[in-house]
Amino acid sequence: EATAVFTNLPLLDFSLDNERSAFQSALTEVRATLPRRYALAQPVGCNSARNPAHPDDVLGTVDLAGPEHASVAVAAANAAFPSWRDTPVAKRVRLLRHAAELMVAERRALAALEVLEAAKPWREADADVAEAVDFLRYYATQMEQLSGWHETVRFPGEDNRIVYVPRGVAVVIAPWNFPLAILAGMTAAALVAGNCVVMKPALPGLLIAHAFLDLLHRAGLPADVCRLLPGDEAVGAALVADARVHVIAFTGSRRVGLQILQSAHTPAPGQRHVKQVVCEMGGKNAIVVDEDADLDDAVTGILESAFGYSGQKCSACSRLITVGQVHDRLLARLVEAAATLPWGPPEQAEFTHGPLINEAAQKKALDYIEIGKDEGRLVWQGTVPVQGWYAPPTIFAGIRPQHRLACEEIFGPLLAVMRAPDFETAITMAMDSDYALTGGVYSRLPAHLQMAQESFHVGNLYLNRKITGARVGVHPFGGIKLSGTGVQAGGADYLKQFLWSRSMSRNT
Ligand code: NAD
Ligand code: ALA
Repeated sequence: EATAVFTNLPLLDFSLDNERSAFQSALTEVRATLPRRYALAQPVGCNSARNPAHPDDVLGTVDLAGPEHASVAVAAANAAFPSWRDTPVAKRVRLLRHAAELMVAERRALAALEVLEAAKPWREADADVAEAVDFLRYYATQMEQLSGWHETVRFPGEDNRIVYVPRGVAVVIAPWNFPLAILAGMTAAALVAGNCVVMKPALPGLLIAHAFLDLLHRAGLPADVCRLLPGDEAVGAALVADARVHVIAFTGSRRVGLQILQSAHTPAPGQRHVKQVVCEMGGKNAIVVDEDADLDDAVTGILESAFGYSGQKCSACSRLITVGQVHDRLLARLVEAAATLPWGPPEQAEFTHGPLINEAAQKKALDYIEIGKDEGRLVWQGTVPVQGWYAPPTIFAGIRPQHRLACEEIFGPLLAVMRAPDFETAITMAMDSDYALTGGVYSRLPAHLQMAQESFHVGNLYLNRKITGARVGVHPFGGIKLSGTGVQAGGADYLKQFLWSRSMSRNT
């Protein structure tokens, strides 16, 4: 049987009247299912899902698990492993594809839930669901290619082959900012490879995580092959430390990622294997704008990268480095364009920019605005609604490499502008960071684009386009340095992290 060819799911076109009204209906239908309630036996607490644009609007309540529940979930996954491991690859692949079909059929409802729970503007919510579908299909196709025995280099008198086998229990620890795509991506990779999964999503996004679990079960996945453990960091830490866990797939902050690496690589009593850690962390991403750049393109790309989803993307642009004399011209254009962006409740189609995820994120962004006023010069600030967890979009100039605004991941709509005398210095400044996730260059000079290609070392380099919005399979995504362990999601090598390879040599 021929392996399927992967293609990305096209995004919805909200410029069409019928698409807008279909999405509006989905929002109304999802609203009618709220508040949702997910109960647990002997919970250690309860989390209220709140609409970040209207914090009094409680969308649901989810009981929280503690470390004891973590142990039970790992035991169940471990018990389910032999039968899932021995399930033929073709069946696992079929199941993942079926889940992807359900997701496509329900894409508007899933995206509408993201609009309410994660305050994703319509386009961003749809893109997250489409990316989740892509991950399911992409890893299914990858698994088809990896399945079976593969011949190695020919050697006289021997038949030599390798095979990829599942590892065991995988723990998936996900962030809230791509509440479906990242959770589904890591989970799909683990499952299709034949591992059993315990998912530990972030607290914001638990309703979406439950919707995903429900969809997997409706697609036919046995209950113990994939479980959801709603809990805080203590639950995550207990899962990571459990001796029965073989793979930890984590996406989140650098602080937590480094803790997980340390804990996972310290063998627990009774542990007889090395845990595999897939670790995607934060970013402090820069766009360099050359003196001769097309400023129409640059302004659009910078604003999308810096303020899309209110700056809450690991890929977001938080540093802008201008070359030579372009600084004042670019800033004038940037401020003019930024002032046209509408900020408000994402439930309403006209608001392409919304609040931050919670009060803590809001406070952090507001604190950094004060820091920015000390470190640099506030050149523009937008206005946002008073109600809701908003922080105003803000642009600072006069930021220098040693400033906190140039070094620390803020995860809000703040842009720090820095000046470089020439292109080479700009690239050096762009790379002067512990992080190296995304990066961008706007230039019309082929020699400069070539120089960036060779020497701007980040996981995802984008030339003359925005630095967010990687598509599965098209732009394998993930950082280097302290941004990640370096194998990119949605790329050809990713799935192998969830497998062991065994080689066999037969004397002929
Ligand atoms: P976070 O690190 O605070 O939390 C991520 C997950 O880890 C959550 O599920 C959380 O409950 C869990 N966790 C927290 N402490 C833990 C511990 N000690 N042990 C085990 N699990 C623990 O991140 P967040 O706020 O949810 O997400 C934002 C961060 O994620 C940003 O830094 C962003 O750059 C990063 N991110 C990276 C990528 C990428 O692909 N590189 C993608 C999205 C987000
Ligand atoms: N994959 C997401 C992006 O590229 C984080 O923006």
